Amino acid sequence: MQAKIQEYLHEVASAAPLNAQEAEALRLRFLGRKGVMNDLFADFKTVAPDARKEVGQLLNQLKTAVEAKVSEFANAKPKVSIHAEDVTRPAWGNLPGTHHPVSQVRDELVDIFRRMGFAVAEGPEMEDDWHNFTALNFPPEHPARDMQDTFFLARNPDWALRTHTSNVQVRTMETRKPPIRIIAPGRVFRNEAISSRSHCMFHQVEGLYIDRNVSFADMKQTLLEFAQAFFGPHTAIRLRPSYFPFTEPSAEMDIWWGLETETDYRMTKGTGWLEILGCGMVDPAVLESCGINPEEYSGFAFGLGVERIAMQRFAIPDIRALFENDLRLLRNL
Ligand code: DAH
Repeated sequence: MQAKIQEYLHEVASAAPLNAQEAEALRLRFLGRKGVMNDLFADFKTVAPDARKEVGQLLNQLKTAVEAKVSEFANAKPKVSIHAEDVTRPAWGNLPGTHHPVSQVRDELVDIFRRMGFAVAEGPEMEDDWHNFTALNFPPEHPARDMQDTFFLARNPDWALRTHTSNVQVRTMETRKPPIRIIAPGRVFRNEAISSRSHCMFHQVEGLYIDRNVSFADMKQTLLEFAQAFFGPHTAIRLRPSYFPFTEPSAEMDIWWGLETETDYRMTKGTGWLEILGCGMVDPAVLESCGINPEEYSGFAFGLGVERIAMQRFAIPDIRALFENDLRLLRNL
């Protein structure tokens, strides 16, 4: 027991409360109702009679030491320090808040399509297999499912976090009659290793247009209109053949970015073209799955990644920076 008290004495000796709160915490730790002293006094009863004197003295010493440390602050009033500064100097302005770069880009994308007559639609982030995959022409076991590493729900693997906003296409077509013109911004999830280029959570904006006689030319003109509204009135686009299970034909759209600086070379891999989105004519099998007659209606769809565009626009080289909420970055955007 003596050794234990010595240890406490040591603790008190090296304690250096800076203010009244810290002093009070120290007092409570030792002298409070459930404090160290109380426990020690309880133990004192078990001390052998011939050691009582020594232990008793040590206990008193400890109590006095604590009281001495704390007394300095006993009547302390919070000190107000008045700096003799120029009181007529204007105050520091409050820094205004800003929208997060991902929100800024998402809102701008949505605005552009809204002006073209697209309405905003939403769908769930937790989705069943039908809406995320099967209705979009990904049959079970289809290798295209591997393109999207999925977070399945452990309890019920028929459910997953949606891997793309394309689920909103299905939900909209199932519940509405054409003509359909929607834009669906939202959060998506993929079970990918996090790196400077990919994250397990990011944002997409999905578009869908279904009506009678919708053609590939309609899609191209809509996307050109979008590209020029977002990237500047002289922006050129090109469509490259691609593959998505839910569109036929499918394409990827690039914009002409230019090849003037070293950064342009890096961003465009030396081609001058920058990939912006995936698109295509909605596959007749998808229309049929969603209860729309492909003999009567056709349409196009597209999907783009919001972070990718935000990174280009704000010259942010690492996607992780968008989710760290570092004010030094956010305040400058
Ligand atoms: N869902 C695709 C993806 O996550 C993006 C996409 C491509 C959406 C083509 C579309 C589309 O609607 O037509 O990679």
